[in-house]
Amino acid sequence: MGGALVVIGSVKGSPGCTTLALALATCWPRGERLPAPLVVEADPGGGDVAARFGLAESPGLVSLAAAARRPASPQVLSECVQVLPGDLHVIVGPTGAQQAAAAVGLFAGQGPGLLRAGMGTAGSVLVDVGRFQPQTVGLVAAADRLLLVTRGEADALAHASGKVEEYHGAGCDVELVVVGPSPYPVAEISSVLGVERVHLVPWEEKTARVLRGRGAVPARRWRSSPLVRDATAMALHLMPPVVTRRPGHNSAVHDAVPAPVAQTGGQPLAEAGERT
Ligand SMILES: Nc1ncnc2c1ncn2[C@@H]1O[C@H](COP(=O)(O)OP(=O)(O)O)[C@@H](O)[C@H]1O
Ligand SMILES: [Mg+2]
Repeated sequence: MGGALVVIGSVKGSPGCTTLALALATCWPRGERLPAPLVVEADPGGGDVAARFGLAESPGLVSLAAAARRPASPQVLSECVQVLPGDLHVIVGPTGAQQAAAAVGLFAGQGPGLLRAGMGTAGSVLVDVGRFQPQTVGLVAAADRLLLVTRGEADALAHASGKVEEYHGAGCDVELVVVGPSPYPVAEISSVLGVERVHLVPWEEKTARVLRGRGAVPARRWRSSPLVRDATAMALHLMPPVVTRRPGHNSAVHDAVPAPVAQTGGQPLAEAGERT
C-alpha cells in the first residue's frame, strides 16, 4: 500500500478521535491516483458513526472481522464499506461495547493485512480505535502513523504523557493532537511530553456538529472553517508522497501531492439543508 495506515486513539475521556478521523477523511487529498481514504471505526468501547449518521451497523466492522479469516482481497474490504454524503467511505463499528470489543479483538490480528491488500497502491486508511485498549495493540503495532488525541488541559496532557512514554518505550513514534484550547504553548507541550510533532485542532461546534451527522453547511463556509483548514494541513502532512513512474525513467519519482489531481480543503458531508 502506498497510502498511509493512520491509527487514531486517546487515553481518557472523549477528546474527539471520531470527529478527527472523519475531518481528516473529508480533507484527505483525492484525485486520479489518490482514492478516497477509508475510515475504520475500531473502538472497543462501541462505535458512534452508525448511530450519528443513521446507518445500519451491517455491513461494518463485524463483517470485516469475520472476513479477516478469508484470503485478503479488495472485494472483501469493499463489501464492508458504507459511503456517507461527501463520498466519505467508512466501515462502522458496532454500537454495543461487548460486540465491539470482540470485533476489534478479532480484527486487530488479520485486519491490517486485509486493509493493506484492499486499499491498493495509493489508498490510505484512518483507523479510529477510540481509547487505546489491549484489543487495539495489534492495530497500533501495524500503524504507519500513530496519533494520540487529547484535550489541552494539564490533567489530560498528564494522561497523554504516560501513554507517550509507554509508546516510546515500545519503539513507537507518536504524534500528539490537542483538541480545543490549551493554556500551554505547542513548544512547551512538545518538550515536556517529548513528542516531536504536536498538531492543534480548534474547538468548533458548527463543524463538529456536521461531523456528527447533524445538518450541513454550504461548501464555501465548510472550506473556511478553521477545523477544516487545520485538518487539511494535517492530512497533507500524514499523506505519504505519491510514487509515480514516469515514462522513460527507471526510478520511482516521489512527488509531493500532485496539485493538478489533488483536491484538498475537504467536502462538506452534504451541501445544503439541515437534516435535524
Ligand atoms: N474540534 C471539535 N470542536 C467541537 N466539538 C468537538 C470537536 N471534536 C469533538 N467534538 C465533540 O466532542 C464530542 C466527542 O467527540 P468524539 O469525536 O465522538 O470523541 P471520541 O471519539 O474521542 O470519543 C462530540 O460531541 C463531538 O462533536
Ligand atoms: Mg469515538
